[in-house]
Amino acid sequence: MASIQISNLNKIYPGPKPVRALDHVDLVVEEGEFLALLGPSGCGKSTLLNILAGFETSTEGVVLFERQTIDKAGPDRGVVFQEAALFPWLTVFDNITFGPRVQGIKRAVYEQAAREMLDLVGLSDFAQSYPSQLSGGMRQRVGIARVLVMKPRALLMDEPFGALDAQTRLTMQELLLDVWQRLKITVVFVTHDIDEAILLADRVCVMSARPARIAQQIAIQLPRPRSIDDLTSPGFIRHKAEIMQVMRAAHSQKHIAAA
Ligand SMILES: Nc1ncnc2c1ncn2[C@@H]1O[C@H](COP(=O)(O)OP(=O)(O)O)[C@@H](O)[C@H]1O
Ligand SMILES: [Mg+2]
Repeated sequence: MASIQISNLNKIYPGPKPVRALDHVDLVVEEGEFLALLGPSGCGKSTLLNILAGFETSTEGVVLFERQTIDKAGPDRGVVFQEAALFPWLTVFDNITFGPRVQGIKRAVYEQAAREMLDLVGLSDFAQSYPSQLSGGMRQRVGIARVLVMKPRALLMDEPFGALDAQTRLTMQELLLDVWQRLKITVVFVTHDIDEAILLADRVCVMSARPARIAQQIAIQLPRPRSIDDLTSPGFIRHKAEIMQVMRAAHSQKHIAAA
């Protein structure tokens, strides 16, 4: 079944100099699929994700989540940004339970769920730590746990590992692969990093330069479970070559069109 259905989606930011960010985007994301949106900086990836999250409105088009029009943010779609934006005065545990507490969920229920999520992201020993005592990767793991505790049916991630150093980034990619393997939740993952897109996703949507359209969709054939060892496998390299070619073509077409 489809989790997300987008048809003929257009977005123009109004103003004295209107900015067209999305150009006739059509996309279906299946339930439980891991989809990567790959494109150059400024092409419109965040715009698309923010529309899915319900933070931003579309100019034209249909955007459905589980067959319902998306018109606002909701706990059914968890959003993870580059910075986790944790409450610095709350412990890790209290940060994670903040959402369910506000929602009026019973303490016994959310405390159990929070413990499970802490375990899932490998932070059980840091429940009583404060964000300032954690590394960037750990803070981002808290950010993921905080979203997952709400039991979303889709996870929308906007360059979630973009601010991390290369080593931590690899660790986080493996952690996310593991989390997704266990929860089998729909993921839409925005990145400008080709390796990251191939390593994580079932399908990579290559976006053109702004205004973003989907230049090509590539099914990633690498077997699962995957690990960072796959980054150097022949299958991986083949996908990378193919995607680089698509990106180059998508980019040069834009330049020809703009000339
Ligand atoms: N709120 C806004 N108002 C006007 N223009 C915006 C706004 N948000 C983004 N843009 C513009 O839309 C384009 C796409 O932005 P964005 O979706 O953030 O790209 P990406 O996430 O791929 O880097 C950019 O040119 C950006 O400057
Ligand atoms: Mg962005």
